Amino acid sequence: MVKAKKYVLINYFVNQPKPTDLKLVEEELPPLQDEEYLVEAEYFSVDPYMRLYVLNFPLGTTMIGGQVAKIIESKNPTFPVGKRIVGYLGWRTHTIISPNIDNSFAQQKPYLLPDIGDLPSSLSLGVLGMPGNTAYFGLLEICKPKSGETIVISGAAGAVGSHVGQIAKILGLNVIGICGSDEKCKWLVEEMGFDFAINYKTMPVAARLREVAPQGVDCYFDNVGGDISGIVMYQMNLFGRVAVCGSISSYDADTSSLPKCAILQPALVTNQLKMEGFIVRRWLDRWNEGVIQNLQWIREGKLRYRETVTKGFENMFDAFIGMLHGDNTGKAIVQA
Ligand SMILES: NC(=O)c1ccc[n+]([C@@H]2O[C@H](COP(=O)([O-])OP(=O)(O)OC[C@H]3O[C@@H](n4cnc5c(N)ncnc54)[C@H](OP(=O)(O)O)[C@@H]3O)[C@@H](O)[C@H]2O)c1
Repeated sequence: MVKAKKYVLINYFVNQPKPTDLKLVEEELPPLQDEEYLVEAEYFSVDPYMRLYVLNFPLGTTMIGGQVAKIIESKNPTFPVGKRIVGYLGWRTHTIISPNIDNSFAQQKPYLLPDIGDLPSSLSLGVLGMPGNTAYFGLLEICKPKSGETIVISGAAGAVGSHVGQIAKILGLNVIGICGSDEKCKWLVEEMGFDFAINYKTMPVAARLREVAPQGVDCYFDNVGGDISGIVMYQMNLFGRVAVCGSISSYDADTSSLPKCAILQPALVTNQLKMEGFIVRRWLDRWNEGVIQNLQWIREGKLRYRETVTKGFENMFDAFIGMLHGDNTGKAIVQA
């Protein structure tokens, strides 16, 4: 009999999530039925969307999230023992998967880890998974970047942002990142190949952006929303494109006291900007295209990645909060 550990939501998050909002419980798993297989988690992803999306689920739900897991028992020949899968199984150590039931909130069934050679399997939660495809499709399909243009990326030193900037460099853009520490700025410029980086916590963003992008901004990949986005949008060029990927600056806020709307319309109208929100699952039917292209760029040495790894399932909550506060550079991961 296998015992699974899982984190269950017992209080909805209000402002900053608290450890007492989740409860660690144990569950005895039943024997496998035909077609089922049992997996043991190896790596967990902690992502900003969890802060928001879990509010749509009833209390008692296992905390949502993706993981890479190893198949340790199987009654399904397509999912043999020893192979690894990627799936939205939540914050739980062991899971029985019934392939015919799709109970994933992300509308994506668990899938076998693609062949990524000797690269770490955790990359399937980052650069070769959901964040990587968010960068790939969000940038190409929404910003429609052209060589020689200038792009600004907020949340630039995180999983999605650091990836977007590197693809933009591959495509020949001038790349400016905005992030929350000098160390992250240095990393973006010296290791990720960004042209400039702005620390929004210590620098006057509007003035600094005018200095480093005197020709204006053509594309804005927005991960954070709020004041930073207002500043960038007022420095955009005619027919600029804004990809609205996320708004992490508001995720912990009291929604009743948020400003209802910043006045962005003059920027949008005057420069005839196009602003579009997206969710990466829009391109589920092209998922492998993104993974294969990102893998190729890694193999060619054009795409680099960093993971901030926290060890231990018991530290899931700290890793999650740390990521929301900016402790991570690149992708935040928990190793089971
Ligand atoms: N639309 C989609 O399909 C999709 C898919 C994946 C992710 N997303 C969104 O993309 C964004 C980035 O996700 P990610 O997984 O790559 O996370 P991440 O950037 O790796 O981690 C979150 C980062 O947000 C920054 N941050 C926190 N509070 C902030 C604030 N008040 N203002 C500015 N920055 C703040 C922190 O970095 P600093 O140190 O720089 O503050 C932190 O490291 C999120 O908004 C997420 O919801 C959307």
